[in-house]
Amino acid sequence: MADQIHRREFPEGFKWGVATSAYQIEGAWDEDGKGQSIWDTYAHTPGKIRDGSTGDIANDHYHRYKEDVALMKEMGANAYRFSICWPRIFPEGTGTPNPKGLDFYNRLVGELLAAGIEPFPTLYHWDLPQALQDKGGWQNRDTPVAFAHYAGYVAEQLSDQVRHFFTTNEIQSFADGGHRGVDTHVAGGELHLEAAPGLRLPPGELNQVRHHAVLGHGLAVHAIHAMGKPGTQCGPAEVISIAVPLIESDEHIKAAEVATRELNAPFLTVILEGRYTDAYLEKAGKDAPRFTPEDLATISEPVDFVGINVYKPNIYVLASDTTPGYRAIPYSASHPKMFSDWHMLGPEALYWGPKMVQSLWGAPAIYITENGCAAADELAADGNVYDTDRIMFLRNSLTQLQRATAEGVPVKGYFLWSMMDNFEWMNGYGDRFGIVYVDFDTQQRIPKMSASFFREVSMHNAVA
Ligand code: NOJ
Repeated sequence: MADQIHRREFPEGFKWGVATSAYQIEGAWDEDGKGQSIWDTYAHTPGKIRDGSTGDIANDHYHRYKEDVALMKEMGANAYRFSICWPRIFPEGTGTPNPKGLDFYNRLVGELLAAGIEPFPTLYHWDLPQALQDKGGWQNRDTPVAFAHYAGYVAEQLSDQVRHFFTTNEIQSFADGGHRGVDTHVAGGELHLEAAPGLRLPPGELNQVRHHAVLGHGLAVHAIHAMGKPGTQCGPAEVISIAVPLIESDEHIKAAEVATRELNAPFLTVILEGRYTDAYLEKAGKDAPRFTPEDLATISEPVDFVGINVYKPNIYVLASDTTPGYRAIPYSASHPKMFSDWHMLGPEALYWGPKMVQSLWGAPAIYITENGCAAADELAADGNVYDTDRIMFLRNSLTQLQRATAEGVPVKGYFLWSMMDNFEWMNGYGDRFGIVYVDFDTQQRIPKMSASFFREVSMHNAVA
């Protein structure tokens, strides 16, 4: 029977990955010479995390990575996106590296390769060394320089075994979430996030933080190419504020395209175009970032691929009475949502996201670096977690993604967020995004039904 099902196939060699990040899973927050990060400081500050938790232990992955890699293999993953904790490598952000920090990632990479899983590390998933924050963090123009130095060092050390690196994860989230405060929901951004270091800067200073972060990405691209073995590839992993057409007519598609370019103006757009849009600069006025033409050339240093994190779409229509010519359409009150209150359902984001990265910016290769959802997962009496809504979400998303690859959009792989439940930033352990359930009292890992779904898709390289 299963043989008779028509499955929509993905291109040969497509990567089926799962994703995590260091602070969200590693624990071991002060082991083996690791320096403190801004997330250690932030989570240790009373009142910052909704359930009062921290990432001190998290999933204890630092000690259980072998078990976790074995689970990934069982789930049919052939790629793994994880992040490297900067203060494990350089406890003070710069200066002398800590060899034990790198050892951990060497062991992890070895374990992955032995299991037939390709490592795709991200160099910055928000855990800035506290020592650099003490000198102004991303407000200080020395931070992007320090980031590039660290990125080059890691590329030099790991690139005999690692071919792909992601530079920064979601500049939009850590720049705005960490420096603007709870009203962060920028122009269709992915999540309402209040993040470390928890500053509330005026608009001009926020724009400068954003600028330093994209500059850090560009400098890191240069450093990785210069220091890595020949053929080492890299690109950003940025959340795309994706506008989708409400109806697939020329007019709505045009509105979505114009809106997508503007919504991402200080992030993906400047990275891939090497210029801030006129509308962004005009709107910012006196608060526009200070930059030089050389900065723009650095920020747009050519990348080998573009990683996009895709969660929810936004809807716009053309409106000639506005600058830059479009207007947001509010979601109807009955529009379905996933478990997180910000997560409107819209699988077509997985079609339009990569499609627009290609049409607007001609990306050479694209990875979906994150996609997934939280769910109200519960352990059933029979020991299973029947996460029916997550499976629905994933099936719909992948069907739309396949639509893009079938049209020739160069998507090379998909990383599901997340490999397992973990520390969901300011929401603590309340929002479960994993396809593996984690009992945080015992550290027991229990694959959910969605893990079997993922395995089925990956084994067939197709979605039914
Ligand atoms: C964005 C972030 O990169 C990741 O750390 C977070 O857990 C997920 N999306 C879900 O909110």
